[in-house]
Amino acid sequence: MSTSVAVVPGSFDPPTLGHLDVIRRAAGLYRQLHVLVVHNPDKEAMLPIAQRLALLEQSIAEAEIEGDIVVASWSMGLLVDYATDVGAGVLVKGIRSQVDVAYETPMAIVNRNLAHVETVFLLPDPAHALVSSSLVRQVAALGGDVSPYVPGPVARFLDTGARDI
Ligand code: PNS
Repeated sequence: MSTSVAVVPGSFDPPTLGHLDVIRRAAGLYRQLHVLVVHNPDKEAMLPIAQRLALLEQSIAEAEIEGDIVVASWSMGLLVDYATDVGAGVLVKGIRSQVDVAYETPMAIVNRNLAHVETVFLLPDPAHALVSSSLVRQVAALGGDVSPYVPGPVARFLDTGARDI
């Protein structure tokens, strides 16, 4: 397992500018980055996993984020099993507030106990500190403009109503 290979896991439902900020900065810190779409059973999904993968790939390409970036999904078990499979010793999470700290801390401890995988928290760019996928889902569902909060490919996808297909 290498501390130069990291995983950025999340629901990415949909990817936001906050996610992209974390991905860009993590890509500058690690030799290889795996952006991993994981189904979160605690959340009702808006987009199918395949759509989230496509939007992440398009958003990373359009933002011209450089580095060795793998976009993948994982539904075969523990997140740390994926990390171990690809030789990643680090998980990277964005932390916007004390609420995120409270949510992420137990997961970080469990993941380290399970597989000696460390979790690194990145603070958000203040411009994205209040952006969340759940807010974007709500605004999009009610017909509002989400373009200030999401990458171009996501804004265009939600705007065309393609999510109803
Ligand atoms: O974007 P989210 O919904 O906050 O991401 C949460 C996620 C998917 C990273 C988290 O639910 C997760 O790690 N799920 C994988 C299942 C797992 O390994 N659970 C045990 C350790 S927390």
